[in-house]
Amino acid sequence: MPKRNGLVVARTRAEARDWRRQLQAQGKRIAFVPTMGALHTGHLSLVQIGREKADVVAASIFVNPTQFAAHEDLGTYPRAEDSDLQKLAEAGCTFCYCPSPSEMYPAGDSTRVTVKDLSHILEGEVRPHFFEGVASVVSRLFLHVGPDVAVFGEKDFQQLLVIRRMVQDLGFPIEIVGGATTRETDGLAMSSRNAYLNAEERARAAAVYRVMTETAAKVETGERISAAAEAAQQALLGAGFASVDYVAVRRGDTLAPFGGDTAPVGVTGRLLIAARMGKTRLIDNMAFVRK
Ligand code: PAF
Repeated sequence: MPKRNGLVVARTRAEARDWRRQLQAQGKRIAFVPTMGALHTGHLSLVQIGREKADVVAASIFVNPTQFAAHEDLGTYPRAEDSDLQKLAEAGCTFCYCPSPSEMYPAGDSTRVTVKDLSHILEGEVRPHFFEGVASVVSRLFLHVGPDVAVFGEKDFQQLLVIRRMVQDLGFPIEIVGGATTRETDGLAMSSRNAYLNAEERARAAAVYRVMTETAAKVETGERISAAAEAAQQALLGAGFASVDYVAVRRGDTLAPFGGDTAPVGVTGRLLIAARMGKTRLIDNMAFVRK
């Protein structure tokens, strides 16, 4: 298999399995960071967590067609394999799986993995195809790479919970670790899709973090959830967002709504926001605990 700065690049599932067998024969523990490429500091922080959790870190770069709807940005999603491989090697990754779509979804493919309930709320309401695509590709990546630990960013918090549920239900012998969201200095969560923002939109996009922080503080001190969410929505629209898909205040473990209109004392919650700035859809979230 070709190497680049010590990074082995596998393009087929057979190559990925060969690499894993060699590593396992040496008794090495493997951490895995699945990505869709266009890597930024946030991804590299997940590689760092992988290094702390295992002997070697593997990544994957695959822009997964099944998690995009026909009207979404599959065709224009940023692709930068050469510089991504360079960044991974520099971050201490020793293996990258870069399969083609036909390697991941062979001719005649008709198997999908669905995590019920959790996949159909919040992001799942706006993007009904999304979590089935994610669960389907992540389960295949897990089978091809066979890691001991896999690291996912908390930026996509609902995705992290969907994957945890899938791993528990299907009995994958893989520890799932969440990595804290990496932010720009003004608080904007790093995301490959931030590249779509023009300069004016980029400056306005920082409002998500400001509004999220203010809203979490309100809910933590017992303000009504409905009022805090409505104020957050108005603040985002006032800051130049074209529309707000949701501002949701939920239980942190299941993303189910709290029973009442205030968060219960001592329970960890999640505030989740999705809003559109021009053509770009931004999502973010934050933990809180009601005092
Ligand atoms: O978070 C992502 O980048 C993707 O959803 C993932 C987990 C790599 C699956 O394609």
